[in-house]
Amino acid sequence: MENNIESTQSKKRILSGIQPSGALTLGNYVGALRNWVQLQKEDIYESYYMIADLHAITVRQEPKDLRKNCMDLLALFIACGLDAEKEPVFFQSHVPAHTQLGWVLDCNTYMGELSRMTQFKDKSRKHADNINAGLFTYPSLMAADILLYQADLVPVGKDQKQHLELTRDLANRFNNAYSDTFKVPEPYIPKIGAKIMSLQDPMQKMSKSDPNENSFILLLDPIDTIVKKIKRAVTDSGSEVCCGEGKEGVENLMSIYSAMTNKTMDEITAEFEGKGYGDFKSAVAESVVDVLKPIQERYADLMKNKDYLESVYKMGAEKANYTARKTISKVYRKVGFIQP
Ligand code: TRP
Repeated sequence: MENNIESTQSKKRILSGIQPSGALTLGNYVGALRNWVQLQKEDIYESYYMIADLHAITVRQEPKDLRKNCMDLLALFIACGLDAEKEPVFFQSHVPAHTQLGWVLDCNTYMGELSRMTQFKDKSRKHADNINAGLFTYPSLMAADILLYQADLVPVGKDQKQHLELTRDLANRFNNAYSDTFKVPEPYIPKIGAKIMSLQDPMQKMSKSDPNENSFILLLDPIDTIVKKIKRAVTDSGSEVCCGEGKEGVENLMSIYSAMTNKTMDEITAEFEGKGYGDFKSAVAESVVDVLKPIQERYADLMKNKDYLESVYKMGAEKANYTARKTISKVYRKVGFIQP
């Protein structure tokens, strides 16, 4: 079989994205951004990080809020440590090939496959007044995001695993029908223990859409708010800092502390032996503030420098377009379109 997959590429490639749908939580930081920064530092991958603005409009957006959320997210990516000068950080809408490939993949995706997506089912329940076609075909656009860059690895949370399986199916389907074109990507699910739960209900994932604001920490929450939210976090009627049945609240705080300090759960248990929840919560709050304060300071500086942010996303779009164009022109040729 003809092998058209780029073979000149030496480093493995990573692509991931986040939707600009509002403020990021500590959970987004620990589950996604922090890992991206770490992966980039390891320097064994070539990475592309994207702000998925096209995906965001599958639910109704106020244009000025969307604009703000996009710039905020870009600044936060950089404030969290992504090196946007070294590797592309870009807006999805700045690379037309995403929608171009999205359409071709739409025509190779079955209604049945899309109907089975749990995120579609969830979101159509939540936005019952706006179950639009984009919400339905969202997974083939996501597949396009990934396949355009011939990504080897896609760091995603568990909730995106089903979309990644579909991406793999679509890549194989296209490769079989039209000869090898796409790299079949692997999911890259971060280590367990990194999942941050709600501070008010430790059985639920921390989410910014939770109506109770005390349940989540936003990366841009004022420092005193962060401390207050941690002090108010639910624990249990005991006093021991350890894991176990009925100790989910404490365990979640331990996970947060562990994520902030890199201490293991055993080390944390030992550290707080004989101490109460008050001391423990103070330490957790301090560890979160130690991590978030410098990020907030960098964010504030970046937001004062819009020219710099603009130069970063333009540079990102240029690099992303360069790579994406190669794939889309190959795809157009293979499906039988006449070259313009
Ligand atoms: N769908 C992802 C989410 O909601 C965001 C996303 C869009 C994405 N395109 C992507 C993630 C490509 C990884 C790769 O979280």
